[in-house]
Amino acid sequence: MSTLSPLTRPHVASAARSRQTTGYNPSYWPAEQHMNPHPQQRQIVLGITGGVAAYKAAHLTRLLLKEQVAVQVIMTQAACGFVTPATFQALSGRPVLTDLWDERIPNRMAHIEASRQADLILVAPASANFMAKVSTGLADDLLSTTVAARHCPLLLAPAMNREMWHNPANQRNLRQLQADGVRILGPASGEQACGEVGEGRLLEPEELLHQVLRQLQPQPLAGRKVLLTAGPTFEAIDPVRGITNSSSGKMGYALAQAAWEAGAEVVLVSGPTALPAPPGCTRIAVRSAAQMLAAVQEALPGTHLFFAVAAVADYTPATPAEHKLKKGKAQLQITLTPTVDILAHVAASPNPPFCIGFAAESQHLAEYAELKRRRKNIPLVVGNLVQRALGSDDNEVILFDDHGAHPLAPASKTHLARQILAHAMALAFPAFTPDKVLP
Ligand code: CTP
Repeated sequence: MSTLSPLTRPHVASAARSRQTTGYNPSYWPAEQHMNPHPQQRQIVLGITGGVAAYKAAHLTRLLLKEQVAVQVIMTQAACGFVTPATFQALSGRPVLTDLWDERIPNRMAHIEASRQADLILVAPASANFMAKVSTGLADDLLSTTVAARHCPLLLAPAMNREMWHNPANQRNLRQLQADGVRILGPASGEQACGEVGEGRLLEPEELLHQVLRQLQPQPLAGRKVLLTAGPTFEAIDPVRGITNSSSGKMGYALAQAAWEAGAEVVLVSGPTALPAPPGCTRIAVRSAAQMLAAVQEALPGTHLFFAVAAVADYTPATPAEHKLKKGKAQLQITLTPTVDILAHVAASPNPPFCIGFAAESQHLAEYAELKRRRKNIPLVVGNLVQRALGSDDNEVILFDDHGAHPLAPASKTHLARQILAHAMALAFPAFTPDKVLP
């Protein structure tokens, strides 16, 4: 097998598609190069154009590879003035393409090869110049030619000075690109490399990653609404003290992310956490169990799936002190009253959504989880041991439903979230088949 070709891991599905639809001639490639050792692997072209933000594309490349997405980097001449192809070759594990006439490609058609093997093309950062080129169909280098020759989705993540972004010509190009079906990601607002503040910052790599993952997978939850609670609650004793717990919110946030990637409209009602809002989701920040209940009730209409992941306080101080309590020698008694069980309340509402509860236990997991499922009258409970789960990035869970207990292999909360979601969808929507979500 030739080791010279940069495109050593062709995506079988895409390649097969292209052969059917474009008259692609496989004889240009040695036969072995069509053998994909990872037939499920998704592959994208990551285009990088000239801009200071090009350095963020390095981190994005790493994140994509961690998610099993193969990345073929194509850089423009201007991009090479900001970052080097060597960095991206090392990170992506394959040579970077920069030249329309690349001699390493057997058929000398790098633009066709790259675009046919890609499930999508993401250009990040996309300069004003590149947006202008694509909006008019100009193809005068490898990246613009690859984009022009594509038959896969194109995502552009613009990055430029705020005046350039608002320039009427750029805005005109933007509208044209949107009308042509190009997805524009961002830009974000904030401090710019030039020192000015405004719109035109490249989205952060984590957000770009999630946009790519969403675009790469089918959208079985398109048109459906998913409501979640996550994190701890904080029950005030006085203006500065309160009762809370050590839930990090990571599992609930991972589920919100998975639901958004699967195409859902996602509303996340979150207690106090240190986590950034997951991209694409509406986050409603609350503090107490009562606030969480009120936010859930307000967001409930139209909800198809309700995940109660929050570690909600079961009791709250009956009468929180108006002013800070002063210490004294006598014992201090705080009277606690029970809070409303939000999950049980939603499950008992008229026309309830499909409800999924969590049972975090320190012992007798199966027994307690099943008891909770029956007591709250919900179809699915995700059980885990608190010793294993709290604050950690990974977890080990067992799903309890009418058919029994289904243990999932230990995995990151991100991957567990996708499996839990697939299980819930299969129960909630009988027409759904689990192969419609990410592995
Ligand atoms: N839950 C809720 N509202 C509450 C308490 C719990 O919505 N006031 C939800 C949690 O989000 C979780 C499930 O109920 O999905 C189980 O929560 P957990 O605290 O494990 O159980 P409890 O029902 O509170 O019982 P216990 O604390 O006795 O284990």
